[in-house]
Amino acid sequence: MPSFATSPGTRDILAPEAPRWRQFQQTFADVVELAGFAHIIPPMFEDLGVFLRVGETTEIVTKEMYDFEDKGGRRVALRPEQTASVCRAFVEHRPVTPWKVWYAGPNFRYEKPQQGRYRQFDQVGIEVLGVDDPQLDAEVIGLAVEFYRRLGLRGVQLSVNSLGDSGDRDRYAVALRTHFSANIDALSAESRATLERNPLRVLDSKRSEDAALIAAAPKMADHLSDQAAAHFVDVQSSLLSAGVGFVVDDRLVRGLDYYRRTTFEFVSTALSAAHVAIGGGGRYDGLVAELGGPDTPGIGFALGLDRTLLACDAEGVFAPPPGRVDVFVVDATGGTHAGAVCAELRAAGIGTDRAYDARSMKAQMKSADRAGARLAIIIGEDEATAKTAIIRTMEGGSQHVVQRDALIAQVRQALHG
Ligand code: HAM
Repeated sequence: MPSFATSPGTRDILAPEAPRWRQFQQTFADVVELAGFAHIIPPMFEDLGVFLRVGETTEIVTKEMYDFEDKGGRRVALRPEQTASVCRAFVEHRPVTPWKVWYAGPNFRYEKPQQGRYRQFDQVGIEVLGVDDPQLDAEVIGLAVEFYRRLGLRGVQLSVNSLGDSGDRDRYAVALRTHFSANIDALSAESRATLERNPLRVLDSKRSEDAALIAAAPKMADHLSDQAAAHFVDVQSSLLSAGVGFVVDDRLVRGLDYYRRTTFEFVSTALSAAHVAIGGGGRYDGLVAELGGPDTPGIGFALGLDRTLLACDAEGVFAPPPGRVDVFVVDATGGTHAGAVCAELRAAGIGTDRAYDARSMKAQMKSADRAGARLAIIIGEDEATAKTAIIRTMEGGSQHVVQRDALIAQVRQALHG
């Protein structure tokens, strides 16, 4: 018989990691719902055209998309990110603005799998549509910072930049193309290919042979319109007055084409791998219009769950939650009483498990230990006849007999004092 394993770049998330994921998403929901964000659950696949709007020079779109024709002949794609879906939903439902939504869930990119880089990976994120105010940019960034604080992360660095309005960006792309083309022989082969597609992305090159040319490249800051420059100054002063630490990184271009004006990225100083970006975002003021909606500004971010948890591990924070089972029922009568006792305890909100197949007392006590239970409730023939039960503490092994009808109260007392 063939045996199967997960596809490259995908993983099974097992306990205790799985409840930790849930707690991660819940912590995020707690932070952003306090700020008025509502939950949105976009579909995991959409018309390919939605994602093409992310940018036709974006690798996520050109190289990494899981797109296919469905049985009805529709060209669809698994979502590589959720910003485009949120904007499509905005155009479809026309909610009142400002529209503030948060999301959590998997995305799909056909990348080269490695530690911290998967083909199916999770994000949590927020988007706000309909507001231009630079104060919002700072507030959005501040919510990510607050979330990292709640996780307990300390080594998170924020970089911000402005990519200007679309005209600024185009003029800057021309200036970069001129600069790099004049020195084309000094550029690495990879960057020469990148230059063809998108001159801004050459700035992302980490190759040593490109470093000098990149350092000497024209600066985005010199190509900003007055409005975009003023917007960026206001974002920075709002961040300063909110006490959010940041550095301005003139080379921060981000991997998606839809960005305008403010862009930002969070890196973890605790991760030594090349992929230290644990989150990022920015303004995408033209995207709603590209998707057929009214001209509407937008801003948001997405934080990578997988990578952020790697950063948590590296910093020793946000430990997996403890198991939920406090009590293990050990039934030495062949299992006739365990079902009823479990049901009674669970109905009272007490996490309870049991063994099956009439296993020996010793084997059941071992299972109790493995389940992480704090108490064992032991019922043998004598206890069954006398309508009693033994409560035994797993650590220390002290035990006492209680009446069956006082079991819940006694268990609560033993667990919580
Ligand atoms: P992004 O920078 O492509 O932005 O992804 C955001 C985060 O998702 C990254 O910083 C990283 O932590 C995580 N991530 C991306 N790809 C992978 C992968 N293959 N494996 C593991 N983690 C990954 C966006 O997706 C934009 N939609 C963000 C945004 C929202 N901009 C405005 N609103």
